[in-house]
Amino acid sequence: MSSMDSKADVTEDGADGVLVVQGATEFAALLCTERACGRRVGLVPTMGALHAGHTSLIERASSECDVVAVTLFVNPLQFNDPADLLRYPRDLDGDLTKCAGSGAQIVFAPPVEEMYPGYPDPPFTIVHVGGPSEGLEGESRPGHFDGVVTVVTKLFSLAGACRAYFGEKDFQQLAVVRRLVADLCLPVEVVGCPTLRDRDGLAMSSRNCRLSPSQRRAALALHRSLEAGRLALADGEADLDVVRGVMRAEMAMEEQVECDYADVVDARTLRRAEVVAGELRLLVAARVGPVRLIDNEGFTAAEAEVAV
Ligand code: PAJ
Repeated sequence: MSSMDSKADVTEDGADGVLVVQGATEFAALLCTERACGRRVGLVPTMGALHAGHTSLIERASSECDVVAVTLFVNPLQFNDPADLLRYPRDLDGDLTKCAGSGAQIVFAPPVEEMYPGYPDPPFTIVHVGGPSEGLEGESRPGHFDGVVTVVTKLFSLAGACRAYFGEKDFQQLAVVRRLVADLCLPVEVVGCPTLRDRDGLAMSSRNCRLSPSQRRAALALHRSLEAGRLALADGEADLDVVRGVMRAEMAMEEQVECDYADVVDARTLRRAEVVAGELRLLVAARVGPVRLIDNEGFTAAEAEVAV
């Protein structure tokens, strides 16, 4: 790889030969070359502190693409709580080993100034997606999705035509990114991947490492709440406010869990569902000790019909 002029363009071989790129121009050029050689590019955007949920996306990308690029960038624009940004876990060496071990060839790990020249001044261009970004996380974390969508647009723009892998763990984010790609005609095929959970049901999250053992036990209430909601629906409960109540009640049983929302929405539009029809999504968010956790599960109306 040729050496570049600016400090941010330094490229080096990281763990197990994965190519680490810090410069945006170099990252874009690298993927252009890959495509010119006829290779299909897979992109896995992350904020690092990788766990098995992230590596499942990299493995999926690796099984469907010829070359896989992982981005590691803790995007300050999407944190509405500065303390959360400060405490967000970082582990570059561990991440590089995991990237290489799951089939990635390229890692883009830009310094913050590379993504946002002039940082901490906010960028002049902020991308906003309406529709699915309203409500739920959009309501609880004002500006969060603008930050997500702005950085994702920038990553897509650098990566060029690719398949991009996102987890259903952040179901609303996945819907917002799909909307972004459709509305701006971006040359990206978005692939949604299932949520990976620990054996006891807790959805894997980079923030879980900040939970004490007792908080971690309490956090299982999120998954229980989703299961209780799904069970009520499968039993034929048709009043969705009752289902929402069941979900909230499950979380209320844990003292250390402070429920933010428990909702049932249309899985495509993310609008609050009024009736049990088509594809639904149950979503919960709660604060447990120092962290805010989210989780979700799907339910199809046909499941209720089978059960009745
Ligand atoms: P991050 O939280 O690091 O997540 C990166 C990707 O991993 C997201 O698509 C997320 O949905 C997926 N993921 C996280 N936990 C998962 C799990 N338990 N199972 C399966 N997939 C999981 O999401 C972001 O970063 C950022 O918002 C980003 C898109 C990178 C923009 O900054």
